[in-house]
Amino acid sequence: MSNLVLQVENLSKCYQIAHRSNAPNFLLRDAIASSVRSWLSRKVRTRSTESFWALEDVSFSLREGDRLGVIGRNGAGKSTLLKLLSRITEPTRGQIEILGRVASLLEVGTGFHPELTGRENVYLNGAILGMSRSEIRRKFDEIVQFAEVERFLDTPVKRYSSGMYVRLAFAVAAHLEPEILIVDEVLAVGDTQFQQKCLNKMEDVGREGRTVLFVSHNMQTIGALCNRGVVLEGGRVAFNGEVQQAIEVYLENSYQVIRQVPLLERRDRSGSGRVKISSFRVLDSQGQAVEILKSGLDYEFEFGYVNYSGQILENVIVSFAILDERGQTILLLRTSFTESNVVLNSSLGVVRGRLNDLPLANGSYRLAIFFSYRESEVLDYLQDAVSIVVEGGDFFGTGQVGLPQKCKLLMKAEWRSL
Ligand SMILES: Nc1ncnc2c1ncn2[C@@H]1O[C@H](COP(=O)(O)OP(=O)(O)OP(=O)(O)O)[C@@H](O)[C@H]1O
Ligand SMILES: [Mg+2]
Repeated sequence: MSNLVLQVENLSKCYQIAHRSNAPNFLLRDAIASSVRSWLSRKVRTRSTESFWALEDVSFSLREGDRLGVIGRNGAGKSTLLKLLSRITEPTRGQIEILGRVASLLEVGTGFHPELTGRENVYLNGAILGMSRSEIRRKFDEIVQFAEVERFLDTPVKRYSSGMYVRLAFAVAAHLEPEILIVDEVLAVGDTQFQQKCLNKMEDVGREGRTVLFVSHNMQTIGALCNRGVVLEGGRVAFNGEVQQAIEVYLENSYQVIRQVPLLERRDRSGSGRVKISSFRVLDSQGQAVEILKSGLDYEFEFGYVNYSGQILENVIVSFAILDERGQTILLLRTSFTESNVVLNSSLGVVRGRLNDLPLANGSYRLAIFFSYRESEVLDYLQDAVSIVVEGGDFFGTGQVGLPQKCKLLMKAEWRSL
């Protein structure tokens, strides 16, 4: 059996967060919601700040060559865990033992010095990893070639686009031969071609017997890359073991949450919270709420919201993604694509989006729902917001209900022979 390279025991991280006061026009609603929330949550209220356990009693170990997928819903503590392992923040309790050099790629903005050029940052990072100048020099061309940033090598990285930044940061982390490579979801920033290149590189790193820790919401990617999985739920380990089992546990748990917890009370969300998504329904062409959808029919998707800002909000962008069960996005719909200006009224309301000829094949799907104010402020974002079931539609109008198998999107083609 290969050597133990990483061991964490009872790792816990507590954040002190400033107490937010309730908006005056939502006193009762907020009082109820927040009392439910604080009862349910790990938050312990003190006078003006609250202690919040982002990670609690996390223990696991990794052996050389393990590729661990860290999975969990928004706010589960994945990034916190990676930050602790990369020594970017200190644990409140617990121990971390790591044998070997760690290179990590966390959110954009960590790891590089903004004023230094790309070239200088490569050397700086190499030095931090304990490599000599000549070792770094030997790797330099490979890094630059991988990152595709030749032209910008002597530009300070603060002028890089986020895509360029991630490309260089990944190239540095992966090529400087760390024993342990830690990668958070940032790869999602790059284009899909570059993402694939990174995933291939991580596979190589794993094959060379080095250890990889990887966070993603995409179960397809986790399943392809990792051999082990840790599922985090509310800062605790819900499962630790073989990766396919971990994925099953995660999918089953998130399905339970979707079914049982009302949208407004869900805690696996991010955003400023000035607006919260509060309900979701699908209406058929008669305006009746339906549970099971049929391909080829027309529907309205209705998103309810509570606006805590007390103001009318104009230029709100509503978007939702339809994902398959493994987390691959199949369709993305966004009001800004069709230049539809969404105005939210100052208290509660609904936004409806019409979808004609539903092009989804039989199956279960999940929706990620996203409200943002202009392009700048994420108001509310629920990654695994709701699920829908499509069954028994006759998309092609041929009487062959539900066909074909194994595909997700349906489209009518016109055929001719010449
Ligand atoms: N610096 C901080 N101060 C206070 N709370 C924090 C801080 N960093 C994270 N948190 C909170 O800790 C919890 C876990 O956050 P974390 O970023 O680790 O989640 P995550 O699993 O990475 O989520 P996501 O999938 O959205 O990236 C969240 O509720 C978050 O709001
Ligand atoms: Mg995160």
